[in-house]
Amino acid sequence: MSGTYVIAGGSHGIGLEIVRMLAPTAARIDVWSRTGGDLPSVATIRHMPCDFADPEGLLPELPEEIHGAVYCPGSINLRSFRSLQPADFRQDFELNLVGAVRFLQACQPRLKGPDGGTASVVLFSTVAVGQGLPMHASVAAAKGAVEGLTRSLAAEWAPKIRVNAIAPALIDTPLAARLLSSPDKREALAARYPLKRIGEPADVAALARFLLSAESGWMTGQVFGVDGGMSTLRT
Ligand SMILES: NC(=O)c1ccc[n+]([C@@H]2O[C@H](COP(=O)([O-])OP(=O)(O)OC[C@H]3O[C@@H](n4cnc5c(N)ncnc54)[C@H](OP(=O)(O)O)[C@@H]3O)[C@@H](O)[C@H]2O)c1
Repeated sequence: MSGTYVIAGGSHGIGLEIVRMLAPTAARIDVWSRTGGDLPSVATIRHMPCDFADPEGLLPELPEEIHGAVYCPGSINLRSFRSLQPADFRQDFELNLVGAVRFLQACQPRLKGPDGGTASVVLFSTVAVGQGLPMHASVAAAKGAVEGLTRSLAAEWAPKIRVNAIAPALIDTPLAARLLSSPDKREALAARYPLKRIGEPADVAALARFLLSAESGWMTGQVFGVDGGMSTLRT
């Protein structure tokens, strides 16, 4: 899968795994994040410092042509509705939705499909939008907005640019580290899933890679669950 990709939040977790999967064949991958994280040292991968939590922060320069764009920064702010302040909702909205909007508005003029095909955008939601879960009010509200953005942009940008989202359940990444901080917690959480395990970054990155490729060329405006069966099954 050659091509030029911009991965916001590609330094850790799911985004890093997407970068690793694209790296062997990509012509160029620009990674936008606050730190270089665990990025491999490869000539085709460039780290560009960027903080989407800062509404005034400048965005890095983009390549002339972008075949695929992914926005990974997000939050898991699990608190009761009673303890959440309006500022918490604004903070989650800024990182999950407004950051994605700023990223995509910057990318839009340069998103072009290779060889007359479509360019591809991948965004991130959460299982907690389609399934009501306690303590998820703030993140579910922000990610619900991301799902609305996904479908609206897919319609507005068709037929040149495809836009899809992935809605994961619990994935073993730095973002989820607090929830998975002991073997007991891991075991108890894994038992809640029909597939009886926590997700791995590669479970999600493999779908992102497919959505960025021409093989998914007739798919747009969709939100795909990668959730060990949680959103649809009772076992
Ligand atoms: N992990 C889960 O259980 C889970 C479940 C449901 C949904 N999701 C969603 O899946 C997506 C990826 O999650 P993940 O678990 O891979 O997250 P992660 O481990 O926290 O990685 C997030 C990436 O985004 C970057 N980032 C975070 N805040 C940023 C900011 N303000 N400005 C620029 N870059 C920023 C991080 O790099 P730096 O720290 O270097 O900036 C990192 O590269 C998120 O949208 C998340 O909401 C995850």
